[in-house]
Amino acid sequence: AEDGYELWLRYQPVAAAKPERAKDYRVHATVLIASDRTPTQVATLTELQRGLEGLLGSAPALADAATVDGALIVGTPSSSPLIERLRLKTAGLGREGYLIRSVVVDGHAATVIAANEDIGALYGAFHYLRLLQTQQPVGALDIREAPRTQLRMLDHWDNLDRHVERGYAGQSIWDWHKLPDYIDPRYTDYARANASIGINATVLNNVNASAQQLTPMVIAKAAALAGVFRPYGIRVFLSARFSAPVEIGGLKTADPLDPQVRQWWKAKVDEIYAAIPDFGGFLVKANSEGQPGPQDYGRTHADGANLLADAVKPHGGTVIWRAFVYSHETPDDRAKQAYSEFVPLDGKFRDNVMVQVKNGAIDFQPREPFHPLFGAMPKTPLMMEFQITKEYLGFATHLAYLGPLFEETLRADTKVQADGTTVAEVVDGSLHGYKLTGMAGVANIGSDRNWSGSHFDQANWYAFGRLAWNPESSSRDIAEEWARMTFSNDAGVVQPVVSMMMGSREAVVDYMTPLGLHHLMGRGHHYGPGPWVEGGPRADWTAVYYHRATQDGIGFDRTTRGSDAVSQYAKPVAAQFNDPQRTPEEFLLWFHHLPWDYTTTSGRPLWDELVVHYTQGVDYVRGMRTTWAGLAGRIDPERHAQVAAFLAIQEKEAQWWRDASIAYFQTFSQRPLPAGYAPPA
Ligand code: GCU
Repeated sequence: AEDGYELWLRYQPVAAAKPERAKDYRVHATVLIASDRTPTQVATLTELQRGLEGLLGSAPALADAATVDGALIVGTPSSSPLIERLRLKTAGLGREGYLIRSVVVDGHAATVIAANEDIGALYGAFHYLRLLQTQQPVGALDIREAPRTQLRMLDHWDNLDRHVERGYAGQSIWDWHKLPDYIDPRYTDYARANASIGINATVLNNVNASAQQLTPMVIAKAAALAGVFRPYGIRVFLSARFSAPVEIGGLKTADPLDPQVRQWWKAKVDEIYAAIPDFGGFLVKANSEGQPGPQDYGRTHADGANLLADAVKPHGGTVIWRAFVYSHETPDDRAKQAYSEFVPLDGKFRDNVMVQVKNGAIDFQPREPFHPLFGAMPKTPLMMEFQITKEYLGFATHLAYLGPLFEETLRADTKVQADGTTVAEVVDGSLHGYKLTGMAGVANIGSDRNWSGSHFDQANWYAFGRLAWNPESSSRDIAEEWARMTFSNDAGVVQPVVSMMMGSREAVVDYMTPLGLHHLMGRGHHYGPGPWVEGGPRADWTAVYYHRATQDGIGFDRTTRGSDAVSQYAKPVAAQFNDPQRTPEEFLLWFHHLPWDYTTTSGRPLWDELVVHYTQGVDYVRGMRTTWAGLAGRIDPERHAQVAAFLAIQEKEAQWWRDASIAYFQTFSQRPLPAGYAPPA
């Protein structure tokens, strides 16, 4: 059934649409030369056989030597004497890089997928299959790839009761109850999908962590998963609850400087490594949104992170400490808090600590300016945290391709050194010479048959992996690749699907939070409009805190005259954001409180411009529905119908967002809708 289970690894027959291409692929894959002595080699060989069988109708026979033209040779110099003899330049590829080259071996044309380590060969095999899946020529290959970041990680926000925080794809895929004795085959498919895009780390549990996760029974379950993932190059990490020494250790305190606490963590870590020898380390959310942390004992984030870092250090582990913090007191501007707490700690963390920073300073909004911490902590490796699950972008029902969001953040210019020092250069370590680098994505995966809750949300998982591998890749190219593998190589499908995807996130920005507005979603669930939300326990959990609409105008003044959040950016960026005329219009109301008649770049007054954006967002969704309807018959009915139904929901809800937002803000602006935008009488 076309239920989306296969993700982008569908391996559909090439011959059906392109018989000539298929013939050519067979010429270049007459026999397969690969060894199967290690679990990773077995995974590589199995994937190639499975992929080629699907794509070409049958897998090539296995061989030991290139005695015919067209051998496909896979491996490393130590696993393959043929590759050893070729003396390929694998220096600089590291553990995970690979080459795919058209070569001549023993007088015969061949294709070689070569790497220094087994895992590189597996990644190369997936790349090779992708070439066939997207119908690229394979006759004269000269590909050289190595990841630009070290840790390419999924953060699961999964709880032990299988509820997934901000998950919109069913329950957790980890069936904790049946682990470790029953291993769902789905875990292997999870590992395959991740390896196919280079993801090499997974945090199994929610950052709002349960201390139970670190009890022996649950460690055994995590170890079983680690065993499934290991051949695919994926290391397991766990979210640690800072107060675990008290909750499950029987201690009176979790003070990071207390010798007993230090001893407890050391013993706990030794226990974990005994079960999971390649355990990656801990992810920690501390002193944020009510979570326990070192500040409970008057200590700093660095004290807390270093406690765990010292415990995992002898085993080669890493501690990833999150910078998503905000204090309990009513803040003057929540956007400033992470920077205020972390910049003074630069240089105070152990060398196996990374600080994980959300892409923007508030919270995974449809659009945020890049987080001011990027570029501001040269001595502390900063890891990017994106959210793949669409907590603030319409859950799984709204179609929003996040590639452009990720790309926009990564390409943002921090200007901390010269012009053109991008967030990507911070994250890949090149700007500050970080020894550790990485990118994390909060997973959108659940127990739903299609993994992500919607077919198009698979693209966000895919795009995250591809951009983590190379933060400078193009989100459009990624969309095209994904669309070809997921739906069809037919240009009549690829082109419209890619164009739908590329504008889809901007449409969400338009109908939810145009011109730099943010956090206007319904309280708690964050789905649907709630610009009127006020009151409650915290000012920064209301919408009115963020939009600050009055009869005088709208927007959050973060300039030097306001909260001064702009000054957390490098001087040239701060100067730009401090001036409404120079602020990119998509961030206008993020940084400025402006009168309703403020003239925007279109020449229209601000109020009119808002209405235009809200309306544009709805129109875009309507356009996607039309485009998608036109693809009926070119996409299998099962997936076509679900996407069509979701787009209908999205249109209805985009209209709801627009109407509700305009009606609410109109109570302040007291202005009529611009001509042509009024509802029909
Ligand atoms: C958001 C989200 C929470 C989550 C938090 C975090 O605020 O709504 O559910 O726990 O981010 O990233 O820690």
